[in-house]
Amino acid sequence: MEDKDIYILGIETSCDETAAAVVKNGREVLSNVIYSQISTHTIYGGVVPEIASRKHIEKIVPVVKEAIKQAGLNKNDLSAIGVTYGPGLVGPLLVGVSFAKAYAYAAGIPLVAVNHIEGHIYANFIDNRELEPPFLCLIVSGGHTHLVNMTDYGQYEILGRTMDDAAGESYDKVARAIGLGYPGGPKIDREASGGDPESISFPRAKVAENEYAFSFSGLKSAVLNYLNSCRMQKIEINRADVAASFQAAVVDVLAGNAMKAADELKAKKFALAGGVASNTALRKRMREECEKRGIDFFVPSPILCTDNGAMIASAAYYEFISGKRAGLELNAIPNLRL
Ligand code: KG4
Ligand code: ZN
Repeated sequence: MEDKDIYILGIETSCDETAAAVVKNGREVLSNVIYSQISTHTIYGGVVPEIASRKHIEKIVPVVKEAIKQAGLNKNDLSAIGVTYGPGLVGPLLVGVSFAKAYAYAAGIPLVAVNHIEGHIYANFIDNRELEPPFLCLIVSGGHTHLVNMTDYGQYEILGRTMDDAAGESYDKVARAIGLGYPGGPKIDREASGGDPESISFPRAKVAENEYAFSFSGLKSAVLNYLNSCRMQKIEINRADVAASFQAAVVDVLAGNAMKAADELKAKKFALAGGVASNTALRKRMREECEKRGIDFFVPSPILCTDNGAMIASAAYYEFISGKRAGLELNAIPNLRL
């Protein structure tokens, strides 16, 4: 181990994953431990915040210990600790923030506060070590849908965001309506592969005020109306066709806005991020659209798209080297914006 190497422990507890990772120099993952609470929440059809907080309390210590062990380090080797402080569920966020503050204080190492949405973007630096800003980025997760121009590390111009539901949220809601259960994204992704994306025509919403903004609540209502009218007419629903047609509408809108921005801003690089970035159809479409235009396309491997500690450690690294530190008064900010 050389002195100049920087080892950051990243902690993520904003929703239903208790995650910790050690990342070297911002881009090399030494460990990435993720305890997913999905099985706990499945029976309720979604994340129950109180239960999530309690699970984080149970798992945070073993998950962090395992991350340090798998990295082959001990806690004296850590240069700093990075933690998600928002946006997310307040109880779950507080578990990570309180733990990180106590850990930083006890170990005598600096604490760095990380915005969860920013963390998703930084997952791209881990799998693509040559990637440097500026680039355009589409962040699509369960809580967020943002189209941004990342001009430098930590610098973002927001081009558009969702006016209502996030892309992942619409996947989860539609999955519930067609009986696929939680979490909906991966289940619709799988179901859609056996369906015809052109079988049902669902709307592709445009937002009048901003050509880069998104809206998914109308699409969700259109799917619910379609299901209701089938039921009333006693027409059997083809689940794979509904999944494929819904997904085609989401992907069209996401890729459509993304490429409009790429054309107008003459982007040379485009990165995809967030849980929905693990979607097969979206990855394929974005890659094709970028290739057509000669734009370099980046997307993290699926395990780094959904919530994890490595992306938080990577984002923390860039904050750390720019001199930013959080104090022990750090608090969770559930509605933190990018
Ligand atoms: O980034 P993430 O793990 O958590 C948030 O920050 O929200 O994203 C979770 C979201 C969920 O809505 C989930 O259904 C969606 O990402 N998701 C997917 C896929 N895998 C996860 N959506 C579509 N296709 C997938 N393969
Ligand atoms: Zn996330």
